[in-house]
Amino acid sequence: MKKKKFGTLCVHAGEHPDPAFGAHTTPIYQTSTFVFDNAEQGASRFAGQEEGYTYGRLVPNTPTHSVLVEKMVALEGGEAGHTFSTGMAAITGVALSLLKQGDHLLSTDVVYGCTYGLFTSLLTRFGIEVSFVDTTDLEEVQRNLKKNTRMVFLETPANPTMNVCDIAAITKMAKDFGAVSIVDNTFATSMFQKPLQLGADAVLHSCTKYIGGHADLLGGVLIGSSEFIDNMTPVVNDTGLTMAPYEAWLCIRGLKTLHLRMAKHAVNGMKIAEFLEAHRKISWVRYPGLPSHPQHTIAKQQMSGFGGMLSFGVAGGMEAGRKLMNRVELCSLAVSLGAVDTLIQHPASMTHADIPEEVRIKTGITDDLVRLSVGIEEPEDIIADLDQALEKV
Ligand SMILES: Cc1ncc(COP(=O)(O)O)c(C=O)c1O
Repeated sequence: MKKKKFGTLCVHAGEHPDPAFGAHTTPIYQTSTFVFDNAEQGASRFAGQEEGYTYGRLVPNTPTHSVLVEKMVALEGGEAGHTFSTGMAAITGVALSLLKQGDHLLSTDVVYGCTYGLFTSLLTRFGIEVSFVDTTDLEEVQRNLKKNTRMVFLETPANPTMNVCDIAAITKMAKDFGAVSIVDNTFATSMFQKPLQLGADAVLHSCTKYIGGHADLLGGVLIGSSEFIDNMTPVVNDTGLTMAPYEAWLCIRGLKTLHLRMAKHAVNGMKIAEFLEAHRKISWVRYPGLPSHPQHTIAKQQMSGFGGMLSFGVAGGMEAGRKLMNRVELCSLAVSLGAVDTLIQHPASMTHADIPEEVRIKTGITDDLVRLSVGIEEPEDIIADLDQALEKV
């Protein structure tokens, strides 16, 4: 049969009537363990000679997890995957499975605050060398790749500056150095960006965001080749970074409308970005869909849409930004992103507060930066809310 389109895959990929009772919707296998027919079967499942489930922490976890993995594999164009309790668990899992003492990790300089924390505070304690590099500058990337570079971690668009880096160019450079490339695709989603097709070895998401889509779960997922995923399995099993069955089910449900939600997020994102850019009280806006975005050209090449995330500065700096956040009524003042409703927050004092001030400022996470996760409400209502709040700034 002809390869199905993205929206059809969101709805159908991985879904099968449940073999037990024919349930149309994937059941939640809320169980910690599985009963074997006999001792021989248990032994052969643990030996990997027979496929099947053994224990909730051990891959493939439960049939609910298997459906989620199959769906995400179809959406990202990979071969296999792992699920995790959070996006940070996915990043921890891949770092622990790839890196050892003496290895070098090259990371995008602008990343989610806890990713920065994990790389600096934890990995360095185990003798792993970490460099944060401006990955929008290919010469900088080339200069910082080393003989011992084992992993290249890219976040694009980056949280919260919206920097975009050239995935195809960097993954090729990494390959030439024998390094493995991992892309955090949380902001763009599988709908708008396909890192595996651009040369990445694995792609990961915080499912907490657009995959779940409704701000009611925590989760993570990582997709790659079968070989890559198999090599990770011992670390995933032994660390217990496991997603819960109910969370897996919520992700499956969320993914069925990913294509509809993302299309609306992107239309709204563009409208709100244009509104803000034209507003007299706004000093700057970063949205990859705007021609004024410094990497708009590469964003157009590697993304098929620009999503719902943007950042901006209010004229009058941090105090003015604070006033704006305190005066919105429809938008919620909350961290996280990718929800159906619009969320507004201040990275310098919230999501990225643990990054040392000089690093923050140098990488563009300035005190005046306000981050907006544009929801799927009607754009006129979001604009009216921002407008009334800006009037009071
Ligand atoms: C780009 C990005 N990656 C990873 C994470 C971590 O995800 P989680 O909160 O599910 O651990 C976040 C969280 O905000 C994020 O924005």
